[in-house]
Amino acid sequence: MSDSIGIVILAAGKGTRMKTETPKALMRTAGRPLLHYVLDEANKFVNQFQLRAEIGVVVGHKKELIEAWLKTISLSENVKTAWQKEQNGTADALKACFLDLPHFWDFDYTLVACADTPMISAFEFQELFSHLKKYPNLVGVAATFETLHPKGYGRIVRGSNGFRIVEEKDATEDERKINEVNSGFYILKTSHLKDFLSGITNQNKAGEFYLTDLFQNHFNVKPIKFSSEAPFLGINTMEQLAEVTRLLNEKKIKTLMLNGVEFLNPQSIYLDYDVTIEAGSIIYPNVTLTGHTHIGEKVLIESGAFIKNSIIRSHSQILAHSYVEEAVVQEKAVIGPMARLRPGSDIGPDSKIGNFVEVKKSKLAKGVKVSHLSYIGDAEIGENTNIGCGFITCNYDGVHKHKTKIGSNSFIGSDCQAIAPIEIGSDAFLAAGSTITKNVPDGGFGIGRSQFVVKEEAAKRFIKTKKS
Ligand code: UD1
Ligand code: MG
Repeated sequence: MSDSIGIVILAAGKGTRMKTETPKALMRTAGRPLLHYVLDEANKFVNQFQLRAEIGVVVGHKKELIEAWLKTISLSENVKTAWQKEQNGTADALKACFLDLPHFWDFDYTLVACADTPMISAFEFQELFSHLKKYPNLVGVAATFETLHPKGYGRIVRGSNGFRIVEEKDATEDERKINEVNSGFYILKTSHLKDFLSGITNQNKAGEFYLTDLFQNHFNVKPIKFSSEAPFLGINTMEQLAEVTRLLNEKKIKTLMLNGVEFLNPQSIYLDYDVTIEAGSIIYPNVTLTGHTHIGEKVLIESGAFIKNSIIRSHSQILAHSYVEEAVVQEKAVIGPMARLRPGSDIGPDSKIGNFVEVKKSKLAKGVKVSHLSYIGDAEIGENTNIGCGFITCNYDGVHKHKTKIGSNSFIGSDCQAIAPIEIGSDAFLAAGSTITKNVPDGGFGIGRSQFVVKEEAAKRFIKTKKS
């Protein structure tokens, strides 16, 4: 029978040092809550070893927010929560898990993870577990690493007969100089926890129940020192959050470059974790891609573009300073410079959205051109229709939104306004400067301008000079 493991993720802490309202586990790095990373990687590890496992997240501070978020993720069925009523320390948090989820005592192993360490990967879990399995006498393993900046971490004090962990607040000056620190990740035989967890006291400077008191010289728990610091970077401050975001970004961009994406200035690019980009795309400096954005093959994205939760299909171009949100840009379309696509925009293949054009909740077919200074809202526009400069869909009557429909191969002259709801057919022609108030059938011509009058020699009456 396969081994069983209870994975306990400690996420009840306030995150006092972050100085924000949001519980730390839900603070975002590269677009995802910190907790999401640890959950995903723990799940990968479980699948790799085909373990019988359950994940318990210990929640406390603003627990409703964390519970609500957990319901939205794909793993939600395998995740249970336990409530630590007061945040009295990491040992108290683990106790709370066993109190609310008593069947966790039945798992062979218990993996303890902190929610505030988003660069952790399944690899570190594998290494720890393999080690523990290899040496049957051990009761646990603790992941440690060396750092030039040990401030804030528990220090690993190695002795002839094992090791212990001393927290920053309780460390002597000499102990603070130790560079090997505790990552907060452990795998323990559950039987060991059962024997010793309840014995932990809060006799320390913080008055908290430290889980790290579980590691004493005489216990057969082994510190496993990992060579790289990065996977264990814990986030306790905004500065550390920014640093981890930078590192995740750097790692992602390197992977994308290996896969054939060209970045003109990689240091200036911001990408969320869930962004995907296909080979042959070229990204100019200062581009921001967030959420679940997908960029197809050979797409060009110029400087200043901000793209959020959107799909940009192959061979399209997003020109400088365009803002694209929850939109789809089909193949070979050109957007911008300085265009705005709002949620629900679907721009057809070979279409063109030019400068100072805003599109909202509208579907444009193949080859549509809206080249300058227009607003297209709640509209449908057919193939190869050309919209002149300064066209406005007047879609809102102050209470309701109304639709504008325009067929294929039509020509809308410059400076027209369509008073929605309205339908303009295919092969229609609307004269420049028209306010369109009636439907126009296929092949129809529409014009609506006030009469233009010319009076000869009359200009001097209107021209003002400095002398007059
Ligand atoms: C902890 C470790 C420290 C280690 C560091 C690694 C202890 C006592 N110290 O310190 O040795 O170097 O992590 O990052 O364990 N939490 C709760 N309930 C609580 C307190 C904390 O659930 O009552 C959770 C937090 O939400 C967080 C995790 O436990 O996810 C760690 O807590 P944190 O306050 O960040 O501990 P550190 O001071 O970083
Ligand atoms: Mg921490």
